[in-house]
Amino acid sequence: MKLSLSQADLTTVDVDLLIVPVLGVDLPDDPNIKALDEALGGELRRIGKFEEFSGKKGQSLQLHTFGKLGAKKLRVMAIGGKELSASEIHAVGVNAARAIKDYKTFAVQLPSGDAAHLSAFVEGLLLGSYRYAEYLTGSRKPKAAARGLLLTQRKPQAEERNALTQATIVAEAVNLTRDLVNRPPNELTAQALAEEAKRVAREYGIRCTVWGKAEIVRRGMTLLAAVNAGSEEEPRFIHMSYVPRGRRKGAKVVFVGKGLTFDSGGLSIKPAKSMETMKCDMAGGAATLAIVAAAARLKLPIEVHGVIPSTDNVIGGKAFKPGDIYRTLDGKTVEVLNTDAEGRLILADALTYARSLKPTVLIDHATLTGACMVALGQWRAGLYATEDALRDRYLAAATRAGEAFWPLPLDEELKDTIKSSIADLKNTGDGYGGSIAAALFLKEFVGEAPWIHLDIAGPAYLSGAHGSSPKGGTGFGVRTALEFIKSYIE
Ligand code: BES
Ligand code: MN
Ligand code: ZN
Repeated sequence: MKLSLSQADLTTVDVDLLIVPVLGVDLPDDPNIKALDEALGGELRRIGKFEEFSGKKGQSLQLHTFGKLGAKKLRVMAIGGKELSASEIHAVGVNAARAIKDYKTFAVQLPSGDAAHLSAFVEGLLLGSYRYAEYLTGSRKPKAAARGLLLTQRKPQAEERNALTQATIVAEAVNLTRDLVNRPPNELTAQALAEEAKRVAREYGIRCTVWGKAEIVRRGMTLLAAVNAGSEEEPRFIHMSYVPRGRRKGAKVVFVGKGLTFDSGGLSIKPAKSMETMKCDMAGGAATLAIVAAAARLKLPIEVHGVIPSTDNVIGGKAFKPGDIYRTLDGKTVEVLNTDAEGRLILADALTYARSLKPTVLIDHATLTGACMVALGQWRAGLYATEDALRDRYLAAATRAGEAFWPLPLDEELKDTIKSSIADLKNTGDGYGGSIAAALFLKEFVGEAPWIHLDIAGPAYLSGAHGSSPKGGTGFGVRTALEFIKSYIE
């Protein structure tokens, strides 16, 4: 979708669909509605009465203009409520995305002159328009994306142009994550994910190092190699670094993302139903890739790294087994009791590597446990942090971004449940507090680094649309992470 700012007149702008959001009850007495109603010879207010338009959130009126306006059709959309907030305007953007689906050109009257509101609207519009279409054919293949004008009251300024560019970059990062998560696992292998990381790195001036199987084994990432052992597909270890000139001192943000391209459970195999959505298990890795790409595109003056261990978890004669014990990159020994608790294994090696980068903060995204979904539901991610101030700062970024997290405890009392009698650690707990046990396992590998662990098993992939998130891959985590990085700039 191509969006541009314009000061065109509401009554003459020549588009297929003109959208005018309105605030308050009924059709307000503002100059826009007046001008439109006049041009339409009073039709707008008449239809408003007829349809009992009350201004309730989500309500809308749509009419043909029969040449009385430049636009072929007019749609008035109720924002709901009395005052404008970014989250309401985001929702208007999502609704507008639905309304423009079948039109080639559209224009939207921006409900306020505020640049933050412009961003919220554009994000809603671009996120709400997302559809995974790579495998649709024939008439189901989407037509060329619409072109849209964002109508401003005054001549668009640099501030507005900036807001549009930045919101577009953020939304494209979320949508890239969605595409990668939705891409089928026969296509999106570890190798393909690494190619995608390299492509993005080339495009935006990011450094990207990729290790294959031999290098992974040589470097001592035995856990990543173990999870990969049953597979015909090679694993990949991906490290993206965005190191801008003139960066802020004392801020190096390192992201780690679980890049498990398909989780069958391994020999501790999952039931068929639970396996259906397991291409989503690389959502943390995809988010990590997109976060680094967006940081570079936004030219944020902060050093940002992305570390992604990637493999599938399948079965074969060489597959790792319950009972196996491995010596990790960190030197600790781990007894595998359940091959389906593989995420914490590949992340253990990746976190060990990541902490050697000496991050100011280390942040991992992982579709780690079904237990987290049981605890918090499908729409909210679990957040663990080694420092309270860091936790609060991340939660504040999440609120600004409009994503839902909830703090969960790194309960040291549960640590005994991941102790093995014959090795340092085992990869399962006692079944209670499953998300916490997994987090405590990861914590063994982060050393002294200030650390945030995000269990995104629920919101990374949805069984149905919710807000601006579609069914399937959502790109959850990207917006909050970018807000959080920006918090180092002020
Ligand atoms: N990838 C799954 C977690 C998951 C479940 C993500 C549902 C998204 C939706 C993870 O690897 C897993 O299988 N975890 C096990 C851990 C258990 C064996 C200790 C789980 O949650 O059941
Ligand atoms: Mn698993
Ligand atoms: Zn998994």
